[in-house]
Amino acid sequence: MEPRITHRFFGRRFGRPLSNARRELILNVLPEMEITCKAAATIDGIFDPSIKKLCLEIGFGAGEHLADMVVKRPEVGFIGCEPFVNGVAALLARTQSRDTRVRPKNLKIFPDDARLLLPYLPAAIVDQIYVLFPDPWPKKRHHRRRLICSENLDQFSRLLRPGGVFHFASDHMSYVRWTLQHLCKHSDFDWLADGPHDWRFRFKESIQTRYESKALSSGCSCVYLTFRRRHQIV
Ligand SMILES: C[S@@+](CC[C@H](N)C(=O)[O-])C[C@H]1O[C@@H](n2cnc3c(N)ncnc32)[C@H](O)[C@@H]1O
Repeated sequence: MEPRITHRFFGRRFGRPLSNARRELILNVLPEMEITCKAAATIDGIFDPSIKKLCLEIGFGAGEHLADMVVKRPEVGFIGCEPFVNGVAALLARTQSRDTRVRPKNLKIFPDDARLLLPYLPAAIVDQIYVLFPDPWPKKRHHRRRLICSENLDQFSRLLRPGGVFHFASDHMSYVRWTLQHLCKHSDFDWLADGPHDWRFRFKESIQTRYESKALSSGCSCVYLTFRRRHQIV
């Protein structure tokens, strides 16, 4: 099943030329770890039956956060989406064990635009979605390229189990406001914020990502938002 090409991707797909070792990972290891749209539609056979929870990370960049979660939470199946080939190679390098034949059992990679995959995944099967430091597209005429938009939130709502959560982090305050406005307008989500501790501190269990480190070291503050998929849609 080929993904339907309905969206144009505006980010980068390639960066610096890959080292031989990373090119090998893309050629030989990625095919074993890749999730296709066809496989997504019948997700049941994808992970070991002992894995009962599913988590998506969209735009994992160089994969620091995702690689760390995969090790910390072996009982959770992770699907990471990232169209930037150098990022995919970086994730594969991080998740390689010393025995290069061993692959993490709880990780699948979609090396493309997440919007192509999401419609194929069955409804209400995801427990957590992470979107960490997405491209902010600061110019007004580019806002429509932002990952957070009502169409993608409809997909997140469809995929999350009732009570499942969506985590968003950014250091770009216009994007934070944009996200809050979109989520508060959407009838399927509640913002889980009791006080500033809810948005000033990184999510439990999460480590710093590359973009987060860059933001913090240049003196920017980061905001962390968590939204829960409502049990009953009003
Ligand atoms: C600013 S980087 C942040 C990377 C990482 N999350 C971090 O915090 O270091 C945003 C990433 O999102 C990816 N991205 C953008 N649109 C995407 C989409 N539609 N599906 C999957 N990834 C996407 C980009 O390729 C880029 O690597």
